[in-house]
Amino acid sequence: MFGVCYYPEHWPSSQWEQDAQMMAELGLTYVRIGEFAWSRLEPNPGELDFAWLDQAILTLNNAGLRVVICTPTATPPKWLIDQHPDILPVDPNTGNTRGFGSRRHYDFSSIEFLQQSLRITRELAVRYGHHSGVVGWQTDNELCCHDTALSGSNNARNAFQDWCSKYYSSIEKLNTDWGNVFWSMEYRDFSDIELPILAVTETSPAHRLAYRRFSSDQVVNYHTLMVEEIRRHAPDQFITHNFIPMNETAVDNFALAAPLDFTSYDNYPLGRTDLMLTGAPADQLRRYMRTGHPDFATYYHDQTRGLLNRGFWVMEQQPGPVNWANNNPRPAPGMIRFWTIEAFAHGADCVCYFRWRQAPFAQEQMHAGLLRPDNSKTEAWPEAKQAMADLAKLDIAKQPSQSASVAIITGVQGLWVSDIEKQGEAYDFNNVQFSYYSALRELGVTVDFISVDTDFSPYALIIAPSLPIIDSAFVEKCKTSCADFIFGPRTGAKTSEFGYPTDLPPGLLQSLVPIRVLSVETLREDFTETLSWNGNHYESCRWREQLDAGNTEVIAKYHNDEPAIVRSGPFTYLGTLTNRDFLLDFLQQQCDHKGVLTYRFGEDIRVSQRGSLMFAFNYSEQAQLLPLAADTQWLIGSATLQPHGLAVWQVSVQTALTK
Ligand code: GAL
Repeated sequence: MFGVCYYPEHWPSSQWEQDAQMMAELGLTYVRIGEFAWSRLEPNPGELDFAWLDQAILTLNNAGLRVVICTPTATPPKWLIDQHPDILPVDPNTGNTRGFGSRRHYDFSSIEFLQQSLRITRELAVRYGHHSGVVGWQTDNELCCHDTALSGSNNARNAFQDWCSKYYSSIEKLNTDWGNVFWSMEYRDFSDIELPILAVTETSPAHRLAYRRFSSDQVVNYHTLMVEEIRRHAPDQFITHNFIPMNETAVDNFALAAPLDFTSYDNYPLGRTDLMLTGAPADQLRRYMRTGHPDFATYYHDQTRGLLNRGFWVMEQQPGPVNWANNNPRPAPGMIRFWTIEAFAHGADCVCYFRWRQAPFAQEQMHAGLLRPDNSKTEAWPEAKQAMADLAKLDIAKQPSQSASVAIITGVQGLWVSDIEKQGEAYDFNNVQFSYYSALRELGVTVDFISVDTDFSPYALIIAPSLPIIDSAFVEKCKTSCADFIFGPRTGAKTSEFGYPTDLPPGLLQSLVPIRVLSVETLREDFTETLSWNGNHYESCRWREQLDAGNTEVIAKYHNDEPAIVRSGPFTYLGTLTNRDFLLDFLQQQCDHKGVLTYRFGEDIRVSQRGSLMFAFNYSEQAQLLPLAADTQWLIGSATLQPHGLAVWQVSVQTALTK
């Protein structure tokens, strides 16, 4: 299925009918509307105007299109801010109030805003909750985008005190858990507690961890109440949200997703590549500037799918240059089709393009759409049409979502710990997690992102790249699992209250891997040492632990012959970060050992499987030859992958996943 993001209020109503007809002509099914439209839905306090929205929905429905309505809460109107200025959030880095005039200018701890949000949501849900032309809802827009999860407001401080009083049964317990005897930080009452911001130097890590937990809970609470409000009045329509990745928002997306029917993601591969490779050597960025990095889009598709472990939507798909990265190139010819098919290969049920027509005004006037402001069609139009024809040919909707035998355990706590305790500037939660993902994808392995609470039984291999806080339930779960586990450095290195385990890291993990971390050194990114494994030399870098290996099997060593990687039965512990070459060879061996099929076709080729369909994507500018058997059943393309091209072939579901 396909859709588009449309803002009828941006265009004269005389244009709507033609727009709707053209959408239907393109083959779209869904149109997402209403996002950011609060000032048109309620131009004055309490004065609701649904007439235009009724008309827009009718026009779209008349063309056979189905509507997804957004709650407009990402943009509270000016009158509301003027009535209740404390809706505005406070930047925790400066203490300055963030002003009106863009979007997301609200504080998750403002009770006034929560009530106003539920009110406008209720009004919409009551009106359209049983409308036959409305199929579903998107809550808000990209919650916590633009660094809005944390606020340093009085509302946040009051709510934090309240949260602390519930989380810690007494102030004495809080003082002990946070280690407040250090630097005389002890509190006498919950009402004394400040937010851990704007202090002279570093605040207590446990205090900051609590602030992160609290802030995440505030977002989840706000969102869950909104979902419940919609559900009450629209019980038969779906509810989704277009997520910003957890590594950017620092919010628990698993908890945020829990009340939804399915998850959605906004896919901007070029903008994201530009921002993520900002500091990289020019050649690295130039190579992918018109395609996106081979693993950036699917890294987030797979995480979005993992939040509820079911099919997801791409709610916004980049159609051409965007306006918000440092530099905004045009996609290489064919990339709109390529990204669309890639999303379906990774479990998408629907791709919606953002946006219908480029707006000739305001902040995003340099952002492409399917149409230009003069109504001419952009390159994205025929490419989207081609993708629809390809996917119809593949009958993709009949395929199950992706199914993996390798999983990466992710979660927001690892990010919090690495943000709060820098220790070494070169340790970055997301880079560490991405390095494993990217190596697995270069091996053609399908990856699920799971939480510690997920059922481990479908997996042959489970990797925890950065899991510093674990509990005994997790350890017991690992013991009873049939999978092999790979734990990255720092696993179990912190107690639940950000303490150092007194029996030394890896703390509770010692009952799986009986070792002790004697000390940790961190090195500058470009200062690497040798890692010897399997008769070859690789790199040990950035984060390096000195291990007392006990009776475990030492499988890799540092330059000085000290243990670097150890194994105890199915559990492998890496005491160091390392490089891509090592991860490729090591993960290849682990996959071979567990019978997981790999396809190592080259740095710029990615192989994906969905049901009985195998896809190969060529991110390079050169044609590539796939070394597959002569009797391969090609459904799209052939063994010769064109530059930026793709091919699809048929396999049997069982044989493709494991040997
Ligand atoms: C998204 C956002 C849209 C629009 C788009 C531009 O992140 O959800 O509203 O701003 O970026 O690329």
